[in-house]
Amino acid sequence: ATTLGASAAQSGRYFGVAISAGKLGDSTYTTIANREFDMVTAENEMKLDATEPNQNQFNYSSGDRIAQWATSNGKRLRGHTLAWHSQQPGWMQNMSGTALRNAMLNHVTQVATHYRGQIYAWDVVNEAFSDNGDGSRRDSNLQRTGNDWIEAAFRAARAADSGAKLCYNDYNIDNPSHAKTQAVLAMVRDFKARGVPIDCVGLQAHFNSGNPVPSNFQTTVSNFAALGVDVQITELDIQGSGTDQANKYRTVVNACLAVARCTGITVWGVRDSDSWRASDTPLLFDNSGNKKAAYTATLDAL
Ligand code: XIL
Repeated sequence: ATTLGASAAQSGRYFGVAISAGKLGDSTYTTIANREFDMVTAENEMKLDATEPNQNQFNYSSGDRIAQWATSNGKRLRGHTLAWHSQQPGWMQNMSGTALRNAMLNHVTQVATHYRGQIYAWDVVNEAFSDNGDGSRRDSNLQRTGNDWIEAAFRAARAADSGAKLCYNDYNIDNPSHAKTQAVLAMVRDFKARGVPIDCVGLQAHFNSGNPVPSNFQTTVSNFAALGVDVQITELDIQGSGTDQANKYRTVVNACLAVARCTGITVWGVRDSDSWRASDTPLLFDNSGNKKAAYTATLDAL
């Protein structure tokens, strides 16, 4: 096949992209997004600050533009994200305790209900573990409401939308031996054992020189899959250029293809200039929308 989406579909997988509502008027951008990808994630438009700017006043205008673009172009939609320590609206940043727990659960319920029937998978909880090397939870206002905040969020999401796959999503969980990876594996194992509704794990896969693609990345993917969840690569971008970057993309794609329950890959933007870290030139298309070596390697590997 000649596009990423069609090539991924040959093995029953998807190939997605993060898009921004503000760029949907850029025809170079939308032409690439529409041609190459068959799944979309809203880069910011379904986050907490966007969807609930004031408590109990929900604003779905930007998120709905993404959803509408997906529908009208025949793409599926990943939901990102219902509960996160970052990009919280100001009112939520200032909350704590039972009031925050209830506000978080209400947010999960309302947003998942609004998008019910439109979402392939939700990143229910994003980035809840710390990077300090001891496998602990990240300190946050949500974590301080009690260690069970994650499972409470998953239960609320399932109650609101029983048709969406429910994912835990995080970064730096790519190396199988790192404490953070081990801690997320343990949480998922525990959730499956106790019947907490979790269907998938999202590996963000933001790679750079300080956080390189592990040579045994495939082991991480298969370790999660072995727990009985799907695995998705949800925010892929890789600092670099040329053949070196291309080979790293190839490693990631091959790792997913080698694991039956790795169901799809999403890159975190269209062109390098669209990236949240544009100076890393981490994506598959250059600033002009031309295919890079990384694109060709990815297409060849699929
Ligand atoms: C980033 C967006 O790309 C930026 O536009 C925004 O300013 C900050 O958030 N992990 C995530 C994503 O789960 O939501 C983040 O997206 C990148 C890191």
